[in-house]
Amino acid sequence: MNMARSMKAQISQKLVSLRRRLFWNQASAITPWSLSTVLLKFNDGELWTIQDACQGTQCFGSTGSGKTTGSVAAIAESFLLAGFGGLFLTAKPDDASTYLRLCEKAGRSSDVMLFRPNGTYRFNPFDSELKRRDAGAGLTHNVVAMLSALLEVSERNQANGGGDSDGYWKRANRQLCLNCVDLSVMAMDRISVPDLYRIAISAPTSLEQLQLDSWKASSFCYQCLMDADKVAKGASRKLDFKLVADYFCLEWPCLSDRTRSVVLSTFTSMLDVLNRGLIRDLMSGETNISPEMAQDGKIIIVDLPTMLFGEVGVFTQVLWKYCMQRAQERRDVQQNPRPVFIVSDESHLTVVKQDQVFQTTARSTRTAVVYATQSISNYLATFGSDSEAEVHSLLGNLQSKFFHQQSDIKTNQYAAELIGRSRQYLINASSSKSDTDYFASLFGQRQGQSTGGVSECYEFEVHPNDFAMLRKGGPPHWIVDAILYQGGRKFGPSGKSWVPVSFKQSV
Ligand SMILES: Nc1ncnc2c1ncn2[C@@H]1O[C@H](COP(=O)(O)OP(=O)(O)OP(=O)(O)O)[C@@H](O)[C@H]1O
Ligand SMILES: [Mg+2]
Repeated sequence: MNMARSMKAQISQKLVSLRRRLFWNQASAITPWSLSTVLLKFNDGELWTIQDACQGTQCFGSTGSGKTTGSVAAIAESFLLAGFGGLFLTAKPDDASTYLRLCEKAGRSSDVMLFRPNGTYRFNPFDSELKRRDAGAGLTHNVVAMLSALLEVSERNQANGGGDSDGYWKRANRQLCLNCVDLSVMAMDRISVPDLYRIAISAPTSLEQLQLDSWKASSFCYQCLMDADKVAKGASRKLDFKLVADYFCLEWPCLSDRTRSVVLSTFTSMLDVLNRGLIRDLMSGETNISPEMAQDGKIIIVDLPTMLFGEVGVFTQVLWKYCMQRAQERRDVQQNPRPVFIVSDESHLTVVKQDQVFQTTARSTRTAVVYATQSISNYLATFGSDSEAEVHSLLGNLQSKFFHQQSDIKTNQYAAELIGRSRQYLINASSSKSDTDYFASLFGQRQGQSTGGVSECYEFEVHPNDFAMLRKGGPPHWIVDAILYQGGRKFGPSGKSWVPVSFKQSV
């Protein structure tokens, strides 16, 4: 029994190394990490390369249509076989084990870094961002952008009126966030969630309070202002400090009580999530894992699935994604051209508006982003009303789109429109006969009438209903179908920008 098991293990090990050797034989014929390196081959002829991967991928399909076990699994496995480093975000409780299996299958288990509760890795995104001042990072602006992404997520869960006032609250939150971060850096040269929290809640609530000795003695905000004032500063930093001091000593206390309390509670409720339990343990101490490690081939799996950990899971994944994007933007791809992937299944749970901005430059940073979600309606619901432009901007920069079996009308309509219409010919024929025809024919007269013709029209190349009929996998064949649409591409002899593809399921 044991012998059989060890032989099986040896054979599977040999198969893995053979697959990798096969991959590298074709890859080494061209420069390593060349953009034309083939990752996937569809229908024995359509090649999907590193260049295609770095232009972004979106998989759509109803629940159970085969996204996770079909397109996402095949694409992720091709990245692993090609030696990419990367980041797997998780949504469902068994996602991490699925990705671990894929890594094992591709012979990449030794590169895996599992970021999970009670694990060995800790990552403080705020501090690591600040410590990279020399590399063009470390600006408080980056930390504020990171916190803004979290604010966006936490605001989604609160009904805050919308409309014009929505923009006001966002700006007000961002302003508080920026001033707290700036004051923290000026006074202590560090950023931590507890410090930001203490500054925000101890800021003066009226001009009278500002004069009180009792407030001065107990306010952390006041203490930071005094410390920041004492630090030697250049001309530009002096101006920054003046802005911060004006904000806390003039603007903030003069806001109406209601406005101030709404802004403060939005900010502190977001910080509160970061400041407690699991997420505090994992993300506010010393750092021993960083997104840059993916650039050396490490595979980071964030095992805090959103469905299990709720807001904590969402915040953790949003932070990881944000930091990976910034790390990729900072990298010199001439020196290190290894592609890095970000795979986010159930992407609507962790998508933020900044993703759309990153996606506009993802290709030049060699980041292969793969998003999968059920429908376009998921994104619209996540981004809120009037978000069509943002959703389409994001989708426009995810050039490869795999459309699986689908029953959402909006997504089917979108896919059909995207693929487009072409000139098609309809053949029609008709015949008519009246009651007198029988007798008329007996006397050799004309029998009824027949007409026929061909008409030209512009029709959908793939009709919205066609997406409902694609195979979803499962026994006995385990085959998943999709329509691959790729902007600016001409597939095979048809010369069309779309092609039907199939995946053998990986379950
Ligand atoms: N282990 C398994 N045994 C039998 N059938 C399976 C197994 N795993 C997946 N399937 C079937 O394969 C199909 C595709 O599953 P998959 O999880 O890839 O869908 P999905 O598009 O990712 O769905 P969701 O949006 O719910 O995540 C489903 O119909 C499912 O029933
Ligand atoms: Mg799935």
